[in-house]
Amino acid sequence: MHDNIESHLVEKRIFKPRTDFAKNARIKSLAQYQRMYRESLRQPAKFWAREASELVWRARWKKVLEWKAPFAKWFAGGKLNISENCLDRHLTGPRRNKAAIIWEGEPGDKRTLTYQQLHREVCRFANVLKRNNIKKGDRVIIYLPNIPETAVAMLACARIGAVHSVVFGGFSADSIRDRIADSGAIAVVTADGAYRRGGIVPLKKNVDEALRDGTSVRRVIVFRRAGNEIHMEEGRDVWWHRELEYVDANCPPVPLDSEHPLYLLYTSGSTGKPKGILHTTGGYLVGVYSSTKYIFDIRDEDIFWCTADVGWVTGHSYIVYGPLANGATTIMYEGAPNWPEPDRFWKIIEEYRVNILYTAPTAIRAFIRWGDHWVAKHDLSSLRLLGTVGEPINPEAWMWYYKNIGGGRCPVVDTWWQTETGSILITPLPGAIPTKPGSATLPFFGIDPAIVDEKGREVGANVGGKLIIRRPWPAMLRTIYGDKARYRQQYWSEFKGNYLTGDGARRDEDGYFWIVGRIDDVLNVAGHRLGTSEIESALVSHPQVAEAAVVGRPDELKGQGVVAFVTLKASVSVTGGLKAELREHVGVHIGAIAKPDEVRFAEALPKTRSGKIMRRLLKEIASGARVTGDTTTLEDFSVLAKLAESEE
Ligand code: PRX
Repeated sequence: MHDNIESHLVEKRIFKPRTDFAKNARIKSLAQYQRMYRESLRQPAKFWAREASELVWRARWKKVLEWKAPFAKWFAGGKLNISENCLDRHLTGPRRNKAAIIWEGEPGDKRTLTYQQLHREVCRFANVLKRNNIKKGDRVIIYLPNIPETAVAMLACARIGAVHSVVFGGFSADSIRDRIADSGAIAVVTADGAYRRGGIVPLKKNVDEALRDGTSVRRVIVFRRAGNEIHMEEGRDVWWHRELEYVDANCPPVPLDSEHPLYLLYTSGSTGKPKGILHTTGGYLVGVYSSTKYIFDIRDEDIFWCTADVGWVTGHSYIVYGPLANGATTIMYEGAPNWPEPDRFWKIIEEYRVNILYTAPTAIRAFIRWGDHWVAKHDLSSLRLLGTVGEPINPEAWMWYYKNIGGGRCPVVDTWWQTETGSILITPLPGAIPTKPGSATLPFFGIDPAIVDEKGREVGANVGGKLIIRRPWPAMLRTIYGDKARYRQQYWSEFKGNYLTGDGARRDEDGYFWIVGRIDDVLNVAGHRLGTSEIESALVSHPQVAEAAVVGRPDELKGQGVVAFVTLKASVSVTGGLKAELREHVGVHIGAIAKPDEVRFAEALPKTRSGKIMRRLLKEIASGARVTGDTTTLEDFSVLAKLAESEE
């Protein structure tokens, strides 16, 4: 069918769960998975109530799900506190003295916090928040490196019912300012600086700049991390360690409504400003708790390492909330994988005897490029399970991961999900579901995905289409902050009552899902979603730029590379340094991750008669292909020829 996504990937290898792994796993066979999956769809209330009952509730819910599409209430009427579930509930037994967070800083400093210690730190910092007049429902921006304090700050907010919004430490002052403006945050928790590849990222300075022209923020709490010199604004800024002197460690968790907002996380859309994805308390907790339990088959004796940054949803769900809700030991590493050398990850795995590793295809592709000898130097025999997330993994990278990191012994769980979904939705269960390299395999419990054509009709085996989810699930987003209409429009309007993922996929003859990527033009660079419109508006904010269009092109390492087509203002003549200057400009306005790999100057951009830029054509040009698609709506044909010559 013309409108469907084509798929050229054919992969026939199948890896069955090893019997020794399956024997000890929670879900031991395909038949057991199928039985439970069927039950989860037939009797969702029963299924999810059973999962939720493993957690601590201050008041039991009245109804598992109230669904007035597209608005869901999970465990309606229930009361709980997520920090109590992640901390207090482990303090009455042997987990009290177990490592909750094992942390390593980029320079090599190390810390371990037991559950009891983490609980104490969270209580104290929650009291600091209270002391600074931060209350239930207030929004707090957290702009910190990957350090235990980030988890402490998140859990402290959750403990008192404040809503955290973590901003990735690689983002710039402009990004912080936008997020403050949208969320109406009253406080920022940050650090003086963060270590990155031996240098120091000036976090506090970025915050100062974001706050320069006045915002809703009244208080900035600063953790001393890098020791770099910073400015402290009298009456606004306070030191974390100083504040601790005024508080004790007694801070009972506040029982919150199951639908009380837990956090906002901003994600790029294809158009317009970043969206504040809102997650709430009860359903989110149940979703991350049970997905961590079944998908990573996590055990009390395991050491679990999710290599993401806490600033992304993966860090929220699978460094902090999922593992801690399970009473697991979670590893946190502050820095770059190739600092000081490309074997940093393998060193960490060897030293801490990591059992479960969860990382991204873009990292795996970098490891492959750096060479197998970095891996071979280390003993990785402690590993028993591997996971990936963030983008489709190419079968070559999957095989390399399986053989070189997993020693051919560890199952690989390729987990598909999104910031919006909160928890993993399509994934193998490691003891039950045979894997095929490149496929996220089958739906998790309670998830009802389908692939449909433009009219919403389910397509047959191996036909590409749009991936939708046909019913609500506990950890789903509840809305876009402050914009219910956009929430409805973006996710629930194209196929009424169904959640539109925005991804294209196909299902093979065994019912396995193969995700092919975003349908719209959002870029996925090194596992991060970037809206082209944000990069474009950053480019256009440069005084010499008239117009810009940004597209992705396949990039072996990063998944996608960023190519910017730029037209300059008429009076401007191209100087040698302008391309580099524009790249820097994007870095300053959005962050280094968004810097174009290539900037091409063009006399004009290909547009339709209605004035829309034809990105499809630009994509073809950017990837070096001849333009083959339909050009009938093109306004000016001479533009195409000139664009093709725009390469340096
Ligand atoms: O396109 C899919 C891709 O990443 C998108 C979600 O990005 P984000 O909200 O930033 O969350 C990333 C971490 C959950 C999806 O729409 N994606 C994520 N995981 C996979 C994937 N594509 C293929 N396979 C995956 N396992």
